[in-house]
Amino acid sequence: MKVNLILYNIGTLVTGKELSLTSNSMENIEVLENAYLAISNGEVLEYGIGEIPKNLIADNTLLEDIHGKVVTPGIIDSHTHLVHYGSRENELPLKIKGVPYLEILRNGGGILSTVRATRKATKEELFQKAKATLDRMLCFGVTTVESKSGYGLTLEEEIKQLEVNKELDNKHPIDIISTFMGAHAIPEEYKNDSKEYIEEIIRMLPIIKEKNLAEFCDIFCEDEVFSVEDSRRILNEAKKIGYLLKIHADEIVSLGGAELAGEIGTLSAEHLMAVSDEGIKALKENNVIANILPATSFNLGKSYAPVRKMINEGVRVAVSSDYNPGSCPTENMQLVMQICSSQLKLTPLEIFKAVTLNAAMAVNREKEIGSLEKGKKADLVIYDTQNLNYIFYNFGINHVKDVYKEGICVVKDKKICY
Ligand code: NIG
Ligand code: FE
Repeated sequence: MKVNLILYNIGTLVTGKELSLTSNSMENIEVLENAYLAISNGEVLEYGIGEIPKNLIADNTLLEDIHGKVVTPGIIDSHTHLVHYGSRENELPLKIKGVPYLEILRNGGGILSTVRATRKATKEELFQKAKATLDRMLCFGVTTVESKSGYGLTLEEEIKQLEVNKELDNKHPIDIISTFMGAHAIPEEYKNDSKEYIEEIIRMLPIIKEKNLAEFCDIFCEDEVFSVEDSRRILNEAKKIGYLLKIHADEIVSLGGAELAGEIGTLSAEHLMAVSDEGIKALKENNVIANILPATSFNLGKSYAPVRKMINEGVRVAVSSDYNPGSCPTENMQLVMQICSSQLKLTPLEIFKAVTLNAAMAVNREKEIGSLEKGKKADLVIYDTQNLNYIFYNFGINHVKDVYKEGICVVKDKKICY
């Protein structure tokens, strides 16, 4: 077996491997002190404690001294609205004055303003903007990104966004998982006939699936946007033709999105700031992953999802950025993780589990990524700290030093090098 690279003298290696499938604890992931990690053909070959076993070292094996620093699996950002054009800083004064997010949308701003800008943009412009974003994400340790459409809202424009996802996946080291979200808002041209737009989404579903442009289908189930009834109809149609499902549920109003997620069996339910107790029960009973987006709460000045309650009820929790030009314009997953620590009172291990293994599950990739186990991709992050706590203690700082994607160094000393 050709061992290309061995990282050794790792102070703390979070392999992220789940230690017990039956434990409800979010802390049940493997952490080794004074460890090594061997990589072969872009995959994890072996890891352990102490000295590197001699049989692993060949003439051309690269040995990398980690000097007691921290290594974790690559961060998975399992919920983003990556591909779009324009920005919405013009809404900042409104937001500061307390104008609600849904009121801005009702007046043709918000998502609809990004729809106008995205429709005007060329594919090349969308690609370049998203690529710059991905470079920033990579520097924060992100190696896989889920990316939703939803700023086109016509067949042609949704396809344009989804084709950019495909191109980014081909050309950028970060892997992209593509989600069709035609049900992101009712476009202006259907303002007085939202039912007809729902029919239009249902017509789009098989066309996009046939073109193999999206693996997931997502919907903004929210007051004044898509009702529980509309969401049920669209998600059930999507399910029939083979999409995996996600739902923006109970973000602003407690509408029953989580209950619907349980009823239909979506893989994940996103946001959940206003989730009810029945909703939490529905998630737990149907193994729906709660995908929490705390930087959106932080940025909108809203309450946080009741994460501890969900964990105590045995719900599997993932955390992601929700990167988008409106409610959460940040690429900084480390800030998101630091918010989890200070505001949600999650421990470092709980947070790492939420952004690695549980996030991998939220995008149906747990067999390939999410932990540094034998045979999984060698996607990993080296932090410039001597312990895990420091990453959360010294907040607002990017502690990521190096990033490896499938065993190849793509960020070295904080600089992109792919
Ligand atoms: O997840 N809630 C709906 N969609 C995004 C916001 C998109 C936007 O404002 O452009 C979200 O927060
Ligand atoms: Fe979102």
